[in-house]
Amino acid sequence: MTKIIAHRGSKGTHPENTLAAFKEAVRVGSDGIELDVQLSKDNHLIVLHDETIDRTTNGHGDVGSLTLSELKQFDAGSWFEKNPMVQEVPTLEEVVMLLKKENFQGLLNIEIKTDKIHYEGIEKIIVQLMKSQRWSFDYMYSSFYFKSLEKIWDIEKNHNIASVFGMSEEDEKHALQSVFIEGIHPKIDWVLDHLDDLADFPKAIRPWTVNEEEKMKLCFSYHLAGIHTDYPAKALQIRKLIQN
Ligand code: G3P
Ligand code: MG
Repeated sequence: MTKIIAHRGSKGTHPENTLAAFKEAVRVGSDGIELDVQLSKDNHLIVLHDETIDRTTNGHGDVGSLTLSELKQFDAGSWFEKNPMVQEVPTLEEVVMLLKKENFQGLLNIEIKTDKIHYEGIEKIIVQLMKSQRWSFDYMYSSFYFKSLEKIWDIEKNHNIASVFGMSEEDEKHALQSVFIEGIHPKIDWVLDHLDDLADFPKAIRPWTVNEEEKMKLCFSYHLAGIHTDYPAKALQIRKLIQN
């Protein structure tokens, strides 16, 4: 069954990459949750998509030039007009503790956001945190930046590693040639362009971002391993209708 992975939490209904968005993703019954991780100036794992905090908080500046306590002063939820709420920028530790408290039993996809800024040592810090205790959920690693995936593989052989890309044939080839890569997370357009190859594709396929009903149905009909969607509740409903 195609796993429904809540993209940056339930991004379509709650401010992305906040505890509220992750809690909502668990509440609606998502099979998986995706989040983006970067490093603060003082080496804390910060859950945020952009390299700057400008779009998703009321602050300004680069994630990597701010300390955790500086980042914590900003509001990461009130900008979201559809459903504004006061939210802090969470750390990865805060998110995994929340998922444990909520008894989340699905899959956490940790996307290491190193394609634009190669945060020194981030892979090791993430693996150390994830290995520090037993979680209620399974987890995997992904990144647009292949070197980060190689670094993860160097120190962690027990969790899946996936390559994230847009439409790049080079990235696709690279992923196919690398035995340690379990899956690919391409843009949904890649899936639409490769319909004839999907059945025989040798790796798990979990595209992003699948928000339209027709595209969701297509991914389900091809039995893809997963989809990343901003609307997990809607995707779950559609998958249920198909199955009945
Ligand atoms: O990990 C899948 C997806 O999140 C990749 O794109 O830009 O939303 O992180 P982005
Ligand atoms: Mg992401």
